[in-house]
Amino acid sequence: MKYTKRKVLNLYAGLGGNRQKWENCEVTAVEMDPKIAAVYARLHPEDTLIIGDAHQYLLDHHEEFDFVWSSPPCQTHSRMAKATRHKLNRYSDMSLYQEIIFLDHFFKGQYVVENVKPFYKPLVEPTQKVGRHVFWSNFEFKADEIKQPKNFINQATVSGKKLLQDWLGIHYDENIYYGNNHCPAQILRNCVHPDLGLQIFNQAF
Ligand SMILES: C[S@@+](CC[C@H](N)C(=O)[O-])C[C@H]1O[C@@H](n2cnc3c(N)ncnc32)[C@H](O)[C@@H]1O
Repeated sequence: MKYTKRKVLNLYAGLGGNRQKWENCEVTAVEMDPKIAAVYARLHPEDTLIIGDAHQYLLDHHEEFDFVWSSPPCQTHSRMAKATRHKLNRYSDMSLYQEIIFLDHFFKGQYVVENVKPFYKPLVEPTQKVGRHVFWSNFEFKADEIKQPKNFINQATVSGKKLLQDWLGIHYDENIYYGNNHCPAQILRNCVHPDLGLQIFNQAF
């Protein structure tokens, strides 16, 4: 029997934390930031990488895939962002919920949407909570929390960057800053730990 690889869509790919340990699949990754995408491309040269808008890509291309993982930015939902948002007025980004509803009703394969625990009661109840993450998915999975390094949130220096790189097993030299954030470790803190990504991926099929 001919074995065909699963076609996987990895949205808001970042550095590819959740994807790092996936095997036997054909991955298309979508990431908006060209500098982050450049690191992803080096780490996963076998993936098809789209530099563009993940939200629109899902709408236009979902039918081509068996599995979708989506990790929309958490900045407008996270408790941390609320605690530090003194003068900045902005709305929480509803594309998170648009994708959950869209995937749940119109996508034929398996999906996972990942975010961090929000500062408000989630508008759609998550199907799973693991450590600092919340998940919405259309299959059941069990996953163990991966212990974080001490002072995870406060690792804001170049040595903090190295600590998080070693913890994730994701290494690169350049300092890349996420939006207006001045911390070289922020894009590493954005990552789902590869062991957590693998545990969930393995239970999707
Ligand atoms: C939470 S991080 C994803 C982390 C990733 N799941 C991992 O484990 O490494 C979100 C990423 O989405 C990217 N991003 C933000 N808006 C985007 C958009 N509209 N389309 C594609 N990527 C976007 C950001 O640059 C950031 O790298």
